[in-house]
Order: sequence, then structure tokens, then C-alpha cells
Amino acid sequence: MTQILLNLAGNAVKFTETGAVDILADAVDGNFEIAVRDTGPGIASKDQALIFEEFQQVDNSSTRQKGGTGLGLAISKRIAEMHGGTLDVESVIGSGSTFRLKVPIRMNEDVRAA
Ligand SMILES: Nc1ncnc2c1ncn2[C@@H]1O[C@H](COP(=O)(O)OP(=O)(O)OP(=O)(O)O)[C@@H](O)[C@H]1O
Ligand SMILES: [Mg+2]
Repeated sequence: MTQILLNLAGNAVKFTETGAVDILADAVDGNFEIAVRDTGPGIASKDQALIFEEFQQVDNSSTRQKGGTGLGLAISKRIAEMHGGTLDVESVIGSGSTFRLKVPIRMNEDVRAA
């Protein structure tokens, strides 16, 4: 969880020049959800699947300037899926991105009974 959050928050701060980065947490339908929302450059629809692949970065000058290896999201998605969860993005170019992590809440039986 910490690894995923560090990655998502790190990206949001790295790519956002003006505006805000918000982190929201909620429990919805048995899932723990965390959304990291930014007002950065956004990601074109054609690139939204690509960025979850290893070593893939959107090929623009901003990414090149800001560095990184292109591994953060691939690793984050893999960790989310290993926990039975998902990691997705919604984004509009020019207005920002929201990365949403959903992980099932598996309560320990005696906690559930209490
Ligand atoms: N919040 C964001 N806003 C805009 N583009 C993003 C955002 N998060 C990720 N991206 C795009 O997705 C690419 C892949 O992100 P990822 O976290 O996998 O790699 P990275 O940040 O470039 O490098 P690393 O995480 O390995 O240091 C980024 O290089 C960037 O092009
Ligand atoms: Mg990253």
C-alpha cells in the first residue's frame, strides 16, 4: 500500500506545475479506495493503457525532463492485483488525472463478529 501511494503521490507532485494534488480515501462496496487526483498535464486516452507497462513513459518533453524509469505504475498495478485489487486512471489531457486504487477489505473473522 505504501509503495503504491508513494508512487501515485510522487507522480502527481512530479507532473503537476500548478493547482493541487488531492488524496481521497473511502470504503465503497467492500473495497478500500484511494484516489490521487491532480491538476497536471493529463494523459491522452491512447497512452492510458501504455503507462501501466514496464519502462513506458508518455513521450513528451515534460516526462523526459522530469526523469524516472517508467516502472512505478507497472509495479503499483502488479501489487494492487496481487491483493485482488485494481489500479486505474481517468484523465483528460490538459486538465489533470485521477489514479484510483481499489483493494478488497478482507476483515479478519473475529473482527467481523465483534
Ligand atoms: N499524474 C500524472 N500526470 C501525468 N502523467 C503521468 C502521471 N503519472 C504518470 N504519468 C505518465 O506515466 C508515465 C509512467 O509513470 P511511472 O510512474 O510508471 O514512471 P515514472 O514516474 O516516469 O518513473 P518511475 O516511477 O519509475 O520513477 C510517466 O512517465 C508519465 O509519462
Ligand atoms: Mg513514477
